[in-house]
Amino acid sequence: MSHPLLEAKGISHGFDTLLFSNVDFSLAPGHSAAIVGRSGSGKSTLLHIFSTFIQPNAGRVILLDQDIYALKENKVEALRRFDIGIIFQFHYLFKGMSAKENVEVATMLSGSEIEDALLEKLEIKELMGQKIGELSGGQQQRVSIARVLSKKPRIIFADEPTGNLDKETAELVMDVLLDYIRENGAGLVLVTHDESMSSRCEKQYRLEDKILKEVR
Ligand SMILES: Nc1ncnc2c1ncn2[C@@H]1O[C@H](COP(=O)(O)OP(=O)(O)O)[C@@H](O)[C@H]1O
Ligand SMILES: [Mg+2]
Repeated sequence: MSHPLLEAKGISHGFDTLLFSNVDFSLAPGHSAAIVGRSGSGKSTLLHIFSTFIQPNAGRVILLDQDIYALKENKVEALRRFDIGIIFQFHYLFKGMSAKENVEVATMLSGSEIEDALLEKLEIKELMGQKIGELSGGQQQRVSIARVLSKKPRIIFADEPTGNLDKETAELVMDVLLDYIRENGAGLVLVTHDESMSSRCEKQYRLEDKILKEVR
């Protein structure tokens, strides 16, 4: 296996009670991994731990060769700005701005450019001039995915990104995410409830009984 993008070792965390312990996880360039599990099992928490946002009670996370919880704040900010793409179920777009302006916010910060091919694949090229408030939920979610991918992240963390989408749009979003990581040697960690989405990833894990198990 090539040198991993993400390597987590011995991760334990809980809030009032223990959520999970001794989680080991690794993701190679060009690969995708899905994490499934019941609501409340700690999937979102684990994703936040992998992506610099929550320091675990125990364990180490090496993200893009950096020990993220032993890193200076400015290095963490650089990772977030340039290297990490985060996609949530509920997108955080600026409502009064156009779709194009929303994507430009990301490309200006990271110094990249908006690619027409990406907008075409997401089927949003024609609506980039419209205000976010005029778009449907599914269109808004695709704009938010364009915003994340336009900054050319090396690893994408997606938390239920297709949870609010119809089946066809969900498949389109998965196509775009998987094409992106393969074309760019990036990685995808996907949290989902949806079997048909998780089965499209190379590896599937289940968070259950406070441990992360590889499925199949
Ligand atoms: N910041 C927090 N403070 C206290 N408890 C939290 C916090 N974040 C999550 N939890 C609790 O941890 C548990 C797991 O949450 P979460 O990781 O969101 O699970 P999942 O994504 O699998 O549904 C839940 O019981 C939730 O209420
Ligand atoms: Mg969650």
